[in-house]
Order: sequence, then C-alpha cells, then structure tokens
Amino acid sequence: MLVLGVESSCDETALALVGDDGVAASVMATQADLHALFGGVVPELASREHARLIGPLLDELWRASGLTWNDVDRIAVTRGPGLLGSLLVGLAFAKALALGRGLPLIGVNHLHAHLLAAGLPPDEERLAFPALGVLVSGGHTHLYRMDGPTALTALGRTVDDAAGEAFDKAARVLGFPYPGGIHIDRAAQQGRRGQYKLPKPKVNGSDFDFSFSGLKTAVINISHHAQQVGEQIDVNNLAADFQGTVADILTDHLMRAAEHTGANKIVVAGGVSANSGLRAALSKACEERGYPLYLPQLSLCGDNAAMIGSQAYYEYRAGVRGDLSLNGVASMPVDKIFY
Ligand code: KG4
Ligand code: ZN
Repeated sequence: MLVLGVESSCDETALALVGDDGVAASVMATQADLHALFGGVVPELASREHARLIGPLLDELWRASGLTWNDVDRIAVTRGPGLLGSLLVGLAFAKALALGRGLPLIGVNHLHAHLLAAGLPPDEERLAFPALGVLVSGGHTHLYRMDGPTALTALGRTVDDAAGEAFDKAARVLGFPYPGGIHIDRAAQQGRRGQYKLPKPKVNGSDFDFSFSGLKTAVINISHHAQQVGEQIDVNNLAADFQGTVADILTDHLMRAAEHTGANKIVVAGGVSANSGLRAALSKACEERGYPLYLPQLSLCGDNAAMIGSQAYYEYRAGVRGDLSLNGVASMPVDKIFY
C-alpha cells in the first residue's frame, strides 16, 4: 500500500509517499522567511502560498521518488487542527486528486500524526506500545497515553502557552527572529545554566497539565529589567536556563506519567522535539530508568507530510474511510478522534 500524504495546516506545504517499508519520499516548502517579516504566521498569506506551491511540489515529489500515479493507492490529508484557510487548500487539492484518480481519501488529525513521526522507518524503529507520547509544537503541548497508532487518550495539556510558543516569545525578547526556538537552542549550546533563576510553574489540580506562560514571562521580565537599569543580559546563559527549565518540566512530567500509568515507552514529537537540550535530558532520564525513547529524526520533528501518510496508513488498516464531504476543522478537542 502506498499513501500520498498532503499537509498544509500552517506555514509548511508538504507532500510525501509512505508505504509498507516507510517513507518513499517526502518534500516540503516552508514559508518561514515570508512570515518572519511579520513576527508570526499571517493566515491569509499562508493560504495563498499553499495554493501557489502545492502543484509544483507534486512534480517535485515524483522527481524525488521516481514513482508515478500508478504506484499510489490512497490519498491522505490533514483535516485539522490548523489555520482553516490553509487546511482548505490541502483538502481541496487532496479531494481533487482522489476524485480524479478514483482513489480512497483519508482525513488525518495533525496532532496524532506528529506522534507517529517518532517511529517512522526506514531511519527509525517503529513505535512500541503502550507508550506515553508528548507533542510539543508551536500551537500545542499535549500528553497522551498511546495504546496503538490510532488509539490515543489525552492525559494532559498546556493550560496557557504551548512549549514552542514560549520558545518563540522568549526568543523575540532576546532579539531573535521568528520562529525563535532554533535560535534559543543554538544560543543555549554556547551558554551555561545557573545564572538566572527561573520558575517551574505548577498547575493546580492536575498532575499532567503543563504551564509555560510564567516561565516565558520571567524571561521577558529579566530582559526588561536589565534594559531599565542599563545592564547587559548574557543571552547565551539566559537561553540555557530557559531551555533547561523547559526540558526539566517536560522530562519530569513524562517520568511521573510513566510511573503512574505503567506505559513506559516514551514518544516525543513536534517542532520542539528537535531541541538539543530536550533530546539530551530525555535520553539521560530514559536511559537511567531503562525506558525505550522514540524521537523523530530532525527533519520529521516539525510539520511534514510523511507523518500524515503514516497516520493514514494505520487508520486505513483500522477501517477509516473519508469522502468528498471531508472538511477542515480549525480546532479539535484533544480527547476525541475526528475523521
Ligand atoms: O510542529 P511545528 O513545526 O509546527 C506546529 O505544528 O506548531 O512546531 C514549530 C515550533 C516553533 O515554535 C519553533 O520555534 C519550535 O517548534 N522549534 C524549536 C526548535 N525547532 C523548532 N524549539 C526549540 N528548539 C528547537 N531546536
Ligand atoms: Zn504541527
């Protein structure tokens, strides 16, 4: 079975071919430079860029894979969550292809798909279950129990900022362009932890929910205070303290949840899973406890279509089918699976 995956939920236009042996080809056009001019994603511009790029990207996919339409059995597309205008470009494209080629269509939950990227062969092992999955992206921070590729139960989520959002906002005040996570990561590698005291916000009444806004605000306050009194911030050290604290929070949550649920295979995905400090902290904690750890290869941490094709591969096997009434959903309750 070979699935053509289509992803257009935010500012990356992506297509991929995923089959029994894993990813046959994966291509992507990012709009990051365009949106960086505005300090964040501009939805109207994102939709227009998707519409401009998605056709030429299909030609690029055939070139990269050496495959043709004759090899494709299914079409998969991100249904949501995401920017509605952006989602609709991918959905209209996927529906037209499914109709034109007479192929089954499968709508995919973007958040669930992210988690499967951690197990995508040929470069990574397939995931083992039961697992605990944490999705850390620009818009979401969710903790799931995963009993199978399509059997996810939400255990916790952020009550305020997503981890990636906190990275981007802290980066902005430190003078880095959008998206700032990668810049904090690079600065932190040049810095040392311990100079700046940062809070680890707790969430009342929940063991597994997250909060990052207090931590982000602390970085903003330190920076503003330094400006007011004419002091120089050590950007590398502040980045190291911020990144280290985010990594501590995520690692603590995962280890506690693993102990609590007995699901001790650890899956981490989403843009922030590319973070070197987080990857190191998780590797250490999992190694100490003997927990298997699944991290996506760096190119599959952020938005991509390989994860969409992969999720659809499993959903099709589980009996899920879509039709031309498939529509975009801007936000989806985390504890419901939508098709
Ligand atoms: O999953 P993703 O590509 O898009 C969403 O679905 O949101 O995540 C994007 C987020 C951004 O906030 C970006 O700053 C962050 O991932 N990110 C990182 C790193 N690379 C990307 N954050 C920390 N360290 C990184 N190396
Ligand atoms: Zn995403």
